[in-house]
Amino acid sequence: MKKGILGLTAALVLGLTAACGSEGTSSGGDTTIGISMPTQSSERWVNDGNNMVEEFEELGYDTDLQYGEDVVEDQVSQIENMITEGVDALVIAPIDGEALTNVLDMAENSNIPVISYDRLIMNHDHVSYYATFDNFEVGVIQGEYIEENIGLDEGEGPFTIELFAGSPDDNNAYFFWDGAMSVLEPYIESGDFEVRSGQTNFDQAATPQWSGSDAQERMDNILSSDYSNEEVDIVYSPFDGISLGVISSLKSVGYGTEEQPLPLITGQDADSSSVQSIIDGEQTMTIFKDTRALADKAVEMVDAVLKEEEAEVNDTETYDNGEKVVPSNLLEPVPVDEDNYEEVLIESGYYSKEDFDM
Ligand code: GAL
Repeated sequence: MKKGILGLTAALVLGLTAACGSEGTSSGGDTTIGISMPTQSSERWVNDGNNMVEEFEELGYDTDLQYGEDVVEDQVSQIENMITEGVDALVIAPIDGEALTNVLDMAENSNIPVISYDRLIMNHDHVSYYATFDNFEVGVIQGEYIEENIGLDEGEGPFTIELFAGSPDDNNAYFFWDGAMSVLEPYIESGDFEVRSGQTNFDQAATPQWSGSDAQERMDNILSSDYSNEEVDIVYSPFDGISLGVISSLKSVGYGTEEQPLPLITGQDADSSSVQSIIDGEQTMTIFKDTRALADKAVEMVDAVLKEEEAEVNDTETYDNGEKVVPSNLLEPVPVDEDNYEEVLIESGYYSKEDFDM
């Protein structure tokens, strides 16, 4: 945007931010990047937002960071406002990947480039790039962790397992599920893994808005209907918030003691509460996705687009959003459990020792 209107725009952005009650940030510069994140209820998105603000500002960009707090309409109107305020580019992690068609029309008409962040924006061709992790691989790693650690090798089993999926409006949820099922399904079919609830489809296992309390409630129901005289050995959970909800449910009926240990339970994001849970011997593993590296990628993409250069990508096949295959950069997810959390999360500086009760 032009220098002359910067002061006015900054004032409007700040005023608007205050009115929405969301987090907004602004500093000196000529070009403003609108950053629209889904929620502050999960720690990772707070880190994602803060990391991008920091990195954009290092390159001299202004930023306007807003959180939709899992309300689709609020995210849409926040993005509309950013467009009206004249942001120069948008980085969006959608709450509902299919709900942004109109607002992307607006961005396109105003020549504002859009980068899809972590979650894919569906059904629109005005998405320049997608910065994410290898989402199928996340599911594969979670599935393989179960396969390698439950004792199948030692000829143990059969095992009982219950399955959770993510939010059906998030494209990633299908990738995690498909990746995990590529490993787990053969064991379900062979009878090595028994899903006593019978809930083996994505739709039955889905957790709208990735809600930990919904997952807790679903687990309560499964435990009372299907596990009154049997124990659950494994819970496949795609996300830390779901894992903690499931753990609360299990503990409420007596799991978590020597006689009745918690099942092997997976997760994703390495949120600090789940890392603490791993340290405490409750959640078994999580997937670390370095939000610093993801922010780097998104910032590189925006910078390239604004300079009319090509951004570096490593996948031009996987992420078809229904209108185009969005050129993507996929980062590597890393499994974390009690054996490697110090090395992966603390020695790398992502967390410090003081963040945990060790
Ligand atoms: C997904 C994301 C996961 C997790 C989940 C719930 O889109 O890839 O890492 O954060 O949302 O927030």
